[in-house]
Amino acid sequence: MIFWFVLYQDKMNRNKIMKEQTNKNKIPASAGNIAVQVDDLTVAYNYKPVLWDIDLEIPEGVLMAIVGPNGAGKSTLIKSILGILKPIAGSVSIYGKSYKKQRSLVAYVPQKGSVDWDFPTTALDVVMMGTYGSLGWIKRPRQKEKKAALEALEKVGMLPFKNRQISQLSGGQQQRIFLARALVQNASIYFMDEPFQGVDATTEIAIINILKELRKARKTVIVVHHDLQTVPEYFDWVTFLNVKKIATGPVKDIFNDDNLTKTYGINYKVSIQE
Ligand SMILES: Nc1ncnc2c1ncn2[C@@H]1O[C@H](COP(=O)(O)OP(=O)(O)OP(=O)(O)O)[C@@H](O)[C@H]1O
Ligand SMILES: [Mg+2]
Repeated sequence: MIFWFVLYQDKMNRNKIMKEQTNKNKIPASAGNIAVQVDDLTVAYNYKPVLWDIDLEIPEGVLMAIVGPNGAGKSTLIKSILGILKPIAGSVSIYGKSYKKQRSLVAYVPQKGSVDWDFPTTALDVVMMGTYGSLGWIKRPRQKEKKAALEALEKVGMLPFKNRQISQLSGGQQQRIFLARALVQNASIYFMDEPFQGVDATTEIAIINILKELRKARKTVIVVHHDLQTVPEYFDWVTFLNVKKIATGPVKDIFNDDNLTKTYGINYKVSIQE
């Protein structure tokens, strides 16, 4: 279902790109910009709130982890920011405007398991779909887009698999394909829902290096993450979530036992390396 959403999103990107390119420069030039702002957001499934009155400001250029236990609402928060889910209250803005207006600035890698991989297409095709946003109306991908897709596949170590059907790739390999697809989108804000889930140690290092490169390029990267031990090493910003927002801010200031205990409800001891 999410996969179809992603395809739909690509199609919409393609349809709207001409209009959007005319007012492309939607990112204000001043320093200290807020990339994503969430105000009073409450989201419910079947009338049961799973996110409660969330206020969140994500500054431009951070590499941010969203942490919290299973069922805390992490995926729901991302889906609400991306307009996949409709909140019962509150609002979201991307660089001060609605997601609808800013969708060309945003790339999304959904959580594994939420994607229907039974889709008859090759790894290269999936990555090429990420370039549609930069194409005009009705134009098909050409050499330039293909080159970008091949480069992204190389970056995530999946070039040898470019002609493989995605359904015939392992879970970790599929994850890397989706990452490559997000990379060619050349977005300003990246949302990644557990990109390290089920990948081996080498792939994890390769992915985090790519994310750090994105941060260097002043992109904003928001990652749902479960491995608390690696938070200080990988991220500079963190949001603690458990239905409510527990805390958000620089890792060095707020990644501590107190917030971990409030979020996970048990006594946590972490040693934070500077
Ligand atoms: N489609 C749905 N219908 C009803 N309830 C749902 C639905 N999707 C999620 N939920 C519930 O909403 C809550 C938040 O789910 P969400 O997927 O956002 O959690 P999460 O923090 O991403 O968890 P995980 O770490 O397991 O991925 C959970 O209690 C979950 O059971
Ligand atoms: Mg989730």
